[in-house]
Amino acid sequence: MPADLLARIKVNARVPRHVAVIMDGNGRWARRRGLPRHAGHWEGMKAVREAIEGACAAGVEILTLFAFSTENWKRPRSEIDALMGLLQAYAEKEQERLVRAGVEVRVLGEVDRLDPLSREAVRRIEERTRGGSVLLLNLMVSYGGREELVRAARKLAAKAREGCLDPESIDASTLERALFTAGLPDPDLLVRTSGEFRVSNFMLWQLAYTELYISPALWPDFTREDFYAAILDYQRRERRFGRVSAG
Ligand code: IPE
Ligand code: IPE
Ligand code: MG
Repeated sequence: MPADLLARIKVNARVPRHVAVIMDGNGRWARRRGLPRHAGHWEGMKAVREAIEGACAAGVEILTLFAFSTENWKRPRSEIDALMGLLQAYAEKEQERLVRAGVEVRVLGEVDRLDPLSREAVRRIEERTRGGSVLLLNLMVSYGGREELVRAARKLAAKAREGCLDPESIDASTLERALFTAGLPDPDLLVRTSGEFRVSNFMLWQLAYTELYISPALWPDFTREDFYAAILDYQRRERRFGRVSAG
């Protein structure tokens, strides 16, 4: 029962502030049904709704969803087009629901690589949901952890060349401020669906001390109950950050 799980989350009190999700398994979900891959991506939209509603109900402040990676540009053109069409449809269809729920949407990644219609959809959804104060939803699109770090290095190098930055003064917080996620706390919990045990170039810097949770569910089958189960599992972990146990 989702309500029971939610009640247990609340009793435990230590709710992850920032949850990141690698939404994986859409293609396999479709293949098992003899459907084209894009059908799995469309079905995944329901799971996105479940995760957002679950995050809001549990009191998570930031939800970061990996929607399209740098490497996903290497997929067939038809699949890329379907995913971009889905992004546009999502921004249009869900906008009202998101505003009502108090969700602010930000799209992070190399957005300038998107086609003009998708870029416009991104601009609109960000503009219309601005100021939502219940949940910050980061949609990671055309995002890669290595590319993010390379881009940050380039930015800092340019500043140093202009004389605005002393290389000796660069520390972790300088670098953090040059990332797409500047100013946000690192994810406390990373969920990956479809039973894959890898990070696939996702938030390489930010995941340093994140707790990992692998769900066997394919993304379109991932329910609010599964989301709550991940949080409950997180609440049983002891986070040591390299120190010794407190107990
Ligand atoms: C996740 O599902 C969505 C994206 C990566 C865009 P996949 O499309 O990777 O589905 P599988 O892993 O092939 O089943
Ligand atoms: C990671 O899934 C990217 C997204 C969920 C957007 P992939 O399906 O692209 O990753 P690999 O290829 O299995 O590592
Ligand atoms: Mg995959």
